[in-house]
Amino acid sequence: MLINNDTIIKDTDPLIRTKSEPVPLPLSKEDEDLLRQMHQYVVDSTDEEKAEKFNLRPSVGISAIQLGIPKQLTAIVIDDYDKEGNPIRHEFMLANPKIVSSSVQQAYLESGEGCLSVAEEHEGHVVRAARVKVRAYDLITNQYIEIRARGYLAIVLQHELDHFKGVLFYDHINKDDPFKEIPGALVI
Ligand code: CO
Repeated sequence: MLINNDTIIKDTDPLIRTKSEPVPLPLSKEDEDLLRQMHQYVVDSTDEEKAEKFNLRPSVGISAIQLGIPKQLTAIVIDDYDKEGNPIRHEFMLANPKIVSSSVQQAYLESGEGCLSVAEEHEGHVVRAARVKVRAYDLITNQYIEIRARGYLAIVLQHELDHFKGVLFYDHINKDDPFKEIPGALVI
């Protein structure tokens, strides 16, 4: 499957609102190939040369419904820093991920969110949980895992898992007051 900025479906296509179904485990060859290609897209998308050459839009995650396939598959690659300030890469190829708990504390990205399926900018606080615990099958490590996520990773996981419900980031922006103060929220 060719994955680029032209083949990724946009929010102008009602398909993006489709709910995604869990996939059978162990993964079929077809689902495994799809997940690996999605992961490759995310990795290549942050390589300037490849992005330019193959029409890739830089991203940290992609979900299968963005290719028009309503399956609970998502690939995430994030270069971040740990608490001590050392560079750390969070990399997952997840099947059937589920949020099993969320913090009461909320969080949002100071610069807002973007999405491969959203061409326009939507300004405002995309309010999410500050921390989430996610259970999933992970194809990178080939096992069931539990991710205790905080900060940017927590935001990205919630963004991608929202795609399974047909929810887009701007659905979380307060329409009357996009930059409304969120008491106690963690600003990332
Ligand atoms: Co998205």
